[in-house]
Amino acid sequence: MSDRPTVIAIFGVTGDLARRKLIPALYSNFIKGRTPEPLRIVGVGRRDWSDATLIDHAHQSLKNYAAPIYDERSWDRFRQTLSYSKVNLPQPETYPNLKDDLDALDKGYSNRLYYLSIAPEFYQDVICNLGALGMARENGGWRRAVIEKPFGYNLETAQSLNRAVHSVFNESQVYRIDHYLGKETAQNILFMRFANTIFEPIWNRSHISNVQVTVAETVDVGTRAGYYDRSGVMRDMVQNHLLQLLSLIAMEPPSAFDADALRNEKVKVLQAARAVKLEDTVRGQYDGYRRAEGVAPDSTTPTFAALKLFIDNWRWKDIPFYLRSGKGMRQKTTQVNIQFKRPPNSIFELTESGDYSRNMLSICIQPDEGIHLTIEAKIPDQQIAKSVDMELHYENAFVAEDLPDAYERLLLDAINGDAALFIRGDEIESAWKIVDPIIEGWAGNPAAPPMRSYHQGSWGPAAADELLEREEHIWRLSCLH
Ligand code: BG6
Repeated sequence: MSDRPTVIAIFGVTGDLARRKLIPALYSNFIKGRTPEPLRIVGVGRRDWSDATLIDHAHQSLKNYAAPIYDERSWDRFRQTLSYSKVNLPQPETYPNLKDDLDALDKGYSNRLYYLSIAPEFYQDVICNLGALGMARENGGWRRAVIEKPFGYNLETAQSLNRAVHSVFNESQVYRIDHYLGKETAQNILFMRFANTIFEPIWNRSHISNVQVTVAETVDVGTRAGYYDRSGVMRDMVQNHLLQLLSLIAMEPPSAFDADALRNEKVKVLQAARAVKLEDTVRGQYDGYRRAEGVAPDSTTPTFAALKLFIDNWRWKDIPFYLRSGKGMRQKTTQVNIQFKRPPNSIFELTESGDYSRNMLSICIQPDEGIHLTIEAKIPDQQIAKSVDMELHYENAFVAEDLPDAYERLLLDAINGDAALFIRGDEIESAWKIVDPIIEGWAGNPAAPPMRSYHQGSWGPAAADELLEREEHIWRLSCLH
């Protein structure tokens, strides 16, 4: 570990993400001895807090969200790393105070991570204000900025934010977060594909019939209407989490497991996406959404989306990738189902279901993390086959290991300077190029597929099933109990 002090400045420390995720993740890394020494965590916020208020806040956060790993002795050490600095985010005149506070900790020679966990409309201000005081300059230790999602509201705003970021930080100093990449099972897609030999030869259009990505949530909009009603599912989930899962599944093997090699391949996938036809999209809104507090009574914000997307390259040409995500759905599940083609010739009787099912590889991202492989097997004492699952469950395979929260991994990677699991500037823009035309195509366009309502507790509107039926495909779900 470095003996240069490392300062982590959390902008928005009074907010929900810091309380639920960032403070517990830092604490967990700290007690595992994975954070650098000496470590200082500076909470930055608009409120008139003292160090003691921040310490109380952190204490409460750990009791609520890190109870299983909380202990008094570790807390006693951890609390000594904490201090608070007040800043009014858009006001440059309040930054010298922050600079002084940070410099006082280390005379300006520390490594510094600025974590922006604030409302996105302030990203640009904060970055420019840090830049104006030379706080991004690496004249001693490193300086890095972690930027939460959403990065931009559309392609244009993402480009303008990228320009602002690059006027202050080099790309190598920037860590754009998509917390799905920090999930163990998402990272395992790479291990599964590239640490084994058996999958790669069949991972292409000759053997795969279609790929399905489902990210379903049971929760509704809750108290987040102020943000969500402006965003909707395309900006909130598809532009980032679903397209990231898709790139991990579809990318070519990178030449090395490093940030550049990996992200080069992911960007190529996104750039090869064919423009999605509006008739290949479905949008939905769960019943009752418009009555939620903070939602406009005539809101046309989709809480569900499904789409069919093609990747125009040699590996995937004309193989549909179906993506769907929604709130208020029947079960919380994130899974990728890779459906293989039928055998070219059948010598056996049909299966119980009257069909030769196709083999399916299911990557269960959450919950009940694991991998299932559906194969056809002969039913004993009968001459027909049945689909059965070979299942890997993390809880059985990795008994001694915990599944760390995604933020734990990502914070550590940012501290260690490993950007592999973060989104590069060109990558984020490529993702916006895919979703922007869909969002724009839906807006006030009589020819666009209509908004469908769906019952809370369902799998979304029937139109999402019809989207697949056109190709004689059906949504498949594994990983459910
Ligand atoms: C966030 C979205 O990025 O991801 C939320 O803003 C969503 O709307 C959340 O609920 C889902 O994350 P997870 O880790 O619970 O699947």
